Amino acid sequence: MRNFVLLIFSVVLLTCFVEATVYFKEQFLDGDAWKSRWVNSEHKSDYGQLKLTSGNFYGDAETDKGLQTSQDARFYATSARFEPFSNEGKSLVIQFTVKHEQKIDCGGGYIKLFPADLDQTNMHGDSQYYIMFGPDICGYSTKKVHVIFNYKGKNHLIKKDIKCKDDELTHLYTLILNPDQTYEVKIDNEKVESGSLEEDWDLLPPKKIKDPEAKKPEDWDDRAKIADETDTKPEDWDKPENIPDPDAKKPEDWDEDMDGEWEPPMIPNPEYKGEWKPKQIDNPNYKGVWVHPEIDNPEYSADTQIYKYDNIGVLGLDLWQVKSGTIFDNFLITDDVKTAEEFGNETWGVTKGPEKKMKEEQDEKKRKEEEEKNKEQDTAVEEDDDDDDDDEEEEEGEEETTEEADSEGEDDESHPKDEL
Ligand SMILES: *[C@@H]1O[C@H](CO)[C@@H](O)[C@H](O)[C@H]1NC(C)=O
Repeated sequence: MRNFVLLIFSVVLLTCFVEATVYFKEQFLDGDAWKSRWVNSEHKSDYGQLKLTSGNFYGDAETDKGLQTSQDARFYATSARFEPFSNEGKSLVIQFTVKHEQKIDCGGGYIKLFPADLDQTNMHGDSQYYIMFGPDICGYSTKKVHVIFNYKGKNHLIKKDIKCKDDELTHLYTLILNPDQTYEVKIDNEKVESGSLEEDWDLLPPKKIKDPEAKKPEDWDDRAKIADETDTKPEDWDKPENIPDPDAKKPEDWDEDMDGEWEPPMIPNPEYKGEWKPKQIDNPNYKGVWVHPEIDNPEYSADTQIYKYDNIGVLGLDLWQVKSGTIFDNFLITDDVKTAEEFGNETWGVTKGPEKKMKEEQDEKKRKEEEEKNKEQDTAVEEDDDDDDDDEEEEEGEEETTEEADSEGEDDESHPKDEL
């Protein structure tokens, strides 16, 4: 009992004293001051402008302000620096929110984590980074969450397919990298993928390889079935594939002089059985599938520090967007999963509801306006119709489609006439 109390006591103590470290946090809550923290790259002269805004709809006009891409078909390149650190022996949590309020067609929504020695004014697509993480959308086919790790100078894409959100609302993206070489990806504070670095990326050479010495024995029979040699083709098997139609009759007005000799049209022969093949039987000599024996790969050596990055010091946005309008906000880099979850709850978690509501109200308003406009147009059309025939009244909701169908019908009819 005493031990138990002690245990409880120390657990409580531990929880109180395990301090989370926040390496970087950016919420854009101090007006224009972000401009002193974020450095635009000058590698190209025509990077797109990022502006501070909460967008067309939001949960809170102030706290939802973030960096928005504001010019179509541009590259964007900006970054912010923090006190360099190593994630050795600790979890690394990278988190931020992305809102594609423009109905994005093609563009990146990811961040890159760089070593501290990055030259920020010269950051560009080929600048070496440690980690790339976040959503990427292009057309209908690419809608994924990138998780790219740099290992020994080479970038490695995750082998799993993680779907990203493609609606217009704000979403929270979290990457957790653990010192036990496991990872987790969360969207909106819910796990969408997890696993081990070694299994889900091709970082190390394979542990096992096929034994180059081993060879399949020449007499290895891996045919499960063979043709039955005692089987023979039935005498009456061969029939023509097509035969003259027995029901066809020579037309009465057939003129042999003019039309040549009449021949009935050919039809598929119902008795045709195709090519004859002998029956398949179990192969008495079948030995099963030959399995190539494996050996330990001499090239492989375990690495318990794949997850480790030294001197992490810059977070950057380096991306391309066709249709601009994406808002990035609530960046957080920490060593504590719970802190990140809490921060997500306090930011995205608080404003997502009101944001959705505002968006729905706007959509509803737009829908009503459209409806009004259509009604006005319909009334105009109806008045036209009334002149021609006022007998048939259409049901209200169907007017538009009916109208379209009518005019299409007219088109179809007038077309051949035109050609005549
Ligand atoms: C975050 O919010 C979710 C949903 O309300 C809750 O279940 C969870 O405990 C919260 N997490 C933290 C760390 O506060």
